[in-house]
Amino acid sequence: MSSYLKCIDCGREYSIEKVRFRCECGGLLEVIHGFGNEVSRKIFDERRKIWNSFLNSGVWRFKELVHPLIKKEDIVSKQEGNTNIYFHEKLCRYVGIEEFMVKHEGENPTGSFKDRGMTVGVSEAKRLKNKVVACASTGNTSASLAAYAATAAMKCIVFIPKGKVAYGKLSQALAYGGRVLEINGNFDFAMKLVQETSKKLGLYLLNSVNPWRLEGQKTIVFELIQQLNWEPPDWIIVPAGNLGNTSAFGKALKEMKELGLIEKVPHLASIQAEKSSPFYETWKKKSSKLLVVEEPETVATAIRIGNPVNWKKALKAIKYTKGVVEKVTDQEIMDAKAVVDSCGIGCEPASAASIAGAKKLREKGVIEEGDKVVSILTGHLLKDPDSTMNYHRNKLPGIEPRFCNTPVSLPKEVNENKLREVIFS
Ligand SMILES: Cc1ncc(COP(=O)(O)O)c(C=O)c1O
Repeated sequence: MSSYLKCIDCGREYSIEKVRFRCECGGLLEVIHGFGNEVSRKIFDERRKIWNSFLNSGVWRFKELVHPLIKKEDIVSKQEGNTNIYFHEKLCRYVGIEEFMVKHEGENPTGSFKDRGMTVGVSEAKRLKNKVVACASTGNTSASLAAYAATAAMKCIVFIPKGKVAYGKLSQALAYGGRVLEINGNFDFAMKLVQETSKKLGLYLLNSVNPWRLEGQKTIVFELIQQLNWEPPDWIIVPAGNLGNTSAFGKALKEMKELGLIEKVPHLASIQAEKSSPFYETWKKKSSKLLVVEEPETVATAIRIGNPVNWKKALKAIKYTKGVVEKVTDQEIMDAKAVVDSCGIGCEPASAASIAGAKKLREKGVIEEGDKVVSILTGHLLKDPDSTMNYHRNKLPGIEPRFCNTPVSLPKEVNENKLREVIFS
């Protein structure tokens, strides 16, 4: 079995034995594996029974599809993945889809899907003997990288847009020991800076421009379809920022189909926030160039991205799966979040874009009656407690809290009638 890197623009190939993030032509690289015969549904099912091995991780269970060559001693794992799928009738009614489920990637060790990419990226950094890892982040990437770097005793540098990262995430990056550099600019500027700095100072870059991150994120789809007894849904819906997941999901589905692990390919729907929707505009207008958004805005800070690095890979994924790109407003995102939260599932705002997107696509008739749909919740409710509190206290500018659950203030002396009124009303 062999693996190598290949440029998605000019096709040039590179060995994986040297650190490289882009082709000489500037194009993005993808990892190509020569899969052996040992890949089968049976072997992956057998491994779900294992408890005391790295193969119990929801990422490394699929080692042959992720990084066949890496040795066990180089793997930096926190038993990531193995996240649950939830069904709730209230949620089905809200989106208008009978068979609607969510897969909760917020159940990963640091509370977001990023752990799936980081276990592979940090393991690869270790395999190639790197000591310092770096990323730009809207929050979750930095939290995850800091945790995995600490696990591997590596130094971790993160560039974040000052004042634009939710507290739950920033506090994690600091607590896990990441060196946090706050920059005066948005995520896109942080991304540019970290790429330049990594090149100059020899830092191992762990944003999703690093193709190994996407190899890890492919396992969201592998695991989902395995949990559904290898019967794919009709649609998989994912929130979209830097487009790592959209790209990884497309690659995962293509590989599964080619390897005979699935018979049909589900459609992918990639959902952006309305005022941060460069990919939506590019797809809608069939532009051959990315239509960058200079000043992206949205309450969903994790997807406040105007210049997504993975847009070309993501476009391939949407085309391969005969999928769609959609956009939703902040109002739709926060309402969808309130409904998911009230089902006892909970998620952060960016994740709720995939619920709002499902609802919109059903209303438009893109998702048809009887379709089986899975939305991916990318991050945990507690990542961004401010946005939740501000919604329920009606303090989010421009957003009407249609499903708010405002705390009730009681006077010092409370009589029984008053209590009866607030409890049973
Ligand atoms: C919670 C959450 N959802 C969605 C995204 C966007 O994912 P992608 O960059 O893969 O499109 C991010 C990225 O930071 C995130 O943290």
